[in-house]
Amino acid sequence: MRVFNFNGGPAVLPQPVLEQVAAEMLDWQGTGMSILENSHRSKEVAAMATETQELLRSLLGLGQEWAVLFCQGGASLQFAMLPLNFAPDRAVCDYINTGLWATKAFQEAKICGASPHLAASSQDDDFTHIPSEFSFSDKPRYVYLCSNNTVRGTRWPSFPADAPATLVGDFSSEFLSRPLDLRNFSLVFAGAQKNVAPAGLTIVLIRREFAETAAKGVPHMLDYRTYLENDSMYNTPPVFAIYVAGLVFRWLRDQVGGLAGMEALNRAKADRLYGFIDGSGGFYRGTARADSRSPMNVTYRLASEALEKPFLEGARGEGLVGLGGHRSVGGVRASLYNALGLEAVEALVGYMGHFMAKNG
Ligand SMILES: Cc1ncc(COP(=O)(O)O)c(C=O)c1O
Repeated sequence: MRVFNFNGGPAVLPQPVLEQVAAEMLDWQGTGMSILENSHRSKEVAAMATETQELLRSLLGLGQEWAVLFCQGGASLQFAMLPLNFAPDRAVCDYINTGLWATKAFQEAKICGASPHLAASSQDDDFTHIPSEFSFSDKPRYVYLCSNNTVRGTRWPSFPADAPATLVGDFSSEFLSRPLDLRNFSLVFAGAQKNVAPAGLTIVLIRREFAETAAKGVPHMLDYRTYLENDSMYNTPPVFAIYVAGLVFRWLRDQVGGLAGMEALNRAKADRLYGFIDGSGGFYRGTARADSRSPMNVTYRLASEALEKPFLEGARGEGLVGLGGHRSVGGVRASLYNALGLEAVEALVGYMGHFMAKNG
C-alpha cells in the first residue's frame, strides 16, 4: 500500500513516473539494459539529457540566454560554488537571512573568501516572516535569497524589485511549484529531491552572460564554466536522476497543465490545510506569519507540545507519514510538494479533525 508522503525531502514523486520507471527498468529504450547501467556517453543518454533540458526550458519559458546545468553535491554545494565563482577575493555580496539554509549559505560565503553582507534577517522573529526592508551594500556582486524556507514554512510573496545587483537564489523547496519570473535573477538552483527527482541532482539555471563574469582558476568541478562547456558531462553525471527529472517534466506538461496548472493545484492544497488550521480555534497554530506562508511546507504546532508525539504517531498509523517538523524546530510540518495530491490533504485534514475532537 502506498502511504500519503508528507516528507520534507526526499519527497513524494508522481505515481505515473514511478510506474514508468518500473516498466522501463530492465530494458530502457531498447538498449537491453536499465537506465542505471547505460553509459553517460551513449547517444541515447545524451539525447535524453538534452531533451530533459529542453523540457525544463519550455516549462519555465526560458530562452537560450539561460543555460540549464546538471550539478551534484546537493543544493549545499551551491552555497560554495556561488561565492567561489562570483565573489572571490573578498568581494562584497549581499545575503537575506530567512532561515537555516540561508544562514548556511551566508556562512559558506565567508569560508569561500567572499565578504558577505547581511542585508536583512528575520532571525529576531524566529524566522517566521520574510523581511520587506533591506539595507543593501553599495555595489554587491549579487543579492542572495532563499525563496522558500523548508524548515520554517515561509516563502517570498514577491522578490525585491530594488536590489542594487542581480538576484541569485535557492529555490530547492518550491522549484516548479509555480511559474517563475526570473527577470531580476541571474542564477537559481534547486536540489532535485523535493519537486523534481531523487537526490543526487542539483538543477542550476544560469544566464550565460552572468557565467562569463565568473572568476578564473576555480577548481573544475566547482566552476560553472566546466558544466557549460561540457554540457554537464565533464564527469559522470547522475544519469538516473536526470532521467527521472525528464519524466517529471513531461508529467507536469502533459498531465498537470504546466506550471500554471501546478500552481492552481498547490494553492488549493495549501488553502485547504491553512484554512483548517485557522478554523481550529487555536488547537492547531500555524507558525509562519500569514503574509509569508509557504504553500509547499505548512508548519504548525498543537495546543500543547505534549500532544505532538501522539498526533504524529496516530498519523503514521493512518498512513500519513513524514509529518514531523525539521529536527531543529520540532512541531509538525506537512510538505505539500507537487506530486502530493489533494486527496492526501483531505486525508490529513480528516485525521486532524478526529484528533482534535478526541483531544480538544
Ligand atoms: C531550501 C533548501 N536549501 C538547501 C537544502 C540542502 O539541500 P541538499 O541536501 O541537497 O544539499 C535544503 C534541504 O532540505 C533546502 O530545503
